[in-house]
Amino acid sequence: MSSNEIVLKAQGLYKVFGPKPDAAIKKIQGGAPRDKIGANNTAAVIDASFEVQRGEIFVVMGLSGSGKSTLIRMLNGLWEPTAGTVDILGDTLTGVSARKLRNIRETRVSMVFQQFALLPHRSVLDNVAYGLEIRKMPRAQRIERARKYISMVGLDGWEDKYPKELSGGMQQRVGLARALAADTDVLLMDEAFSALDPLIRREMQEQLIELQSELDKTIIFITHDLNEAMFIGDRIAVMRDGRIVQIGTPEEILTDPANEYVSQFVQDVDRARVLTASAVMQPPAALMQLPGGPRKALRIMREQQTSACFVVDRHRKLLGAVTDREALSLLRRGEESLTDHLSEAAQTTPDTLLAELFIPAVESVLPLAVVDERGRLQGVVPRVVLLAALGGEHEAGVNAQPIPPALAPSVVEDALSADSGPDVKPVSTASTVQPQEEDN
Ligand SMILES: Nc1ncnc2c1ncn2[C@@H]1O[C@H](COP(=O)(O)OP(=O)(O)OP(=O)(O)O)[C@@H](O)[C@H]1O
Ligand SMILES: [Mg+2]
Repeated sequence: MSSNEIVLKAQGLYKVFGPKPDAAIKKIQGGAPRDKIGANNTAAVIDASFEVQRGEIFVVMGLSGSGKSTLIRMLNGLWEPTAGTVDILGDTLTGVSARKLRNIRETRVSMVFQQFALLPHRSVLDNVAYGLEIRKMPRAQRIERARKYISMVGLDGWEDKYPKELSGGMQQRVGLARALAADTDVLLMDEAFSALDPLIRREMQEQLIELQSELDKTIIFITHDLNEAMFIGDRIAVMRDGRIVQIGTPEEILTDPANEYVSQFVQDVDRARVLTASAVMQPPAALMQLPGGPRKALRIMREQQTSACFVVDRHRKLLGAVTDREALSLLRRGEESLTDHLSEAAQTTPDTLLAELFIPAVESVLPLAVVDERGRLQGVVPRVVLLAALGGEHEAGVNAQPIPPALAPSVVEDALSADSGPDVKPVSTASTVQPQEEDN
């Protein structure tokens, strides 16, 4: 998300199908359940309100019949809401003339459909340029623009082929290129990847995210697939029986479901692809700030009952780590400083997905160090915490035991008392590293 500009705003949207929609809304507002609003009335969308920012992928997720398609059809002006309003960049879609509405739809909103909806007798190039032709863009210009987006979705060289010569994934890329070429403020995608094979589908999701990072579009993406929602959504609105029951980031929905329904829903989600290092990291068990030598490191590790100590500079920038064995051997050699003797600590960034931490975690003896863009230590991810988080235990706050000391206490005591330097207190981990936010 790159700005706070609100591109699309829905306020109190209702859509009731049937003979008495207004009366049905009154009943709902009076507290009537959805199935007690008159025999032939269906409340497809009930009181939906949300805002979508420029550059955001806003996912609407819910089971079949929960009202997703009805909602999206109100957002692109195809259906007039029974109540409530839709604004796109300050233009209200509701209650405007047919001509104005058509204009808004052409310039402000484009759609990508589940069934691709390509014109069979037109080439890829002409399919992508079609909307521009309708808008009477001169031929040379629209061809140029179509080529640009065809290339962007990875279909260079396929411009002259016809839809039936393309695989499903490629056809959907054409659909996407066509929608992007329209250069509208909002891109609506209704189950756009649902007809694709799982592997192709994953590829398309990745491509969408990649394109998004370049194009900074405002995308509303409908899906009933939770993993897809979690993977591509900046925020997700969960719908149930016509109502939006929760809006939040994938992480919020997973770690703080608004109700039992959402919590049941997210039970089987692939957490490794949703949760990031920042959601599970902890303060390091032992942390030391330079200047300081092996003696100080050893004392801190003794105090914290652990065999490894992360080392930072005055600005909390991570310099490396030292184990109790290493510190002991440095101390015995009479080394005064740790600076040139630190081992490298495996690093990751706060927004790295847990799925990407497995291999580094297995390869590293130490917990993974989580550093920000300036190299400052934010926290660490011990292997057990990584595993526990995937089982859904991070809500309860798994506390990793520090890695037990490798050295017998007496060995450390002897080494420390052999040469009596000034005693140094360990740096308090809590005050040096921001602890993970947790409400317990
Ligand atoms: N034109 C219509 N006339 C009457 N009822 C409709 C109409 N369109 C949708 N509905 C009803 O509104 C409710 C919501 O339907 P909608 O198509 O929006 O759900 P959805 O979440 O998109 O489902 P799916 O995942 O199956 O596409 C359903 O009960 C549906 O039967
Ligand atoms: Mg639908």
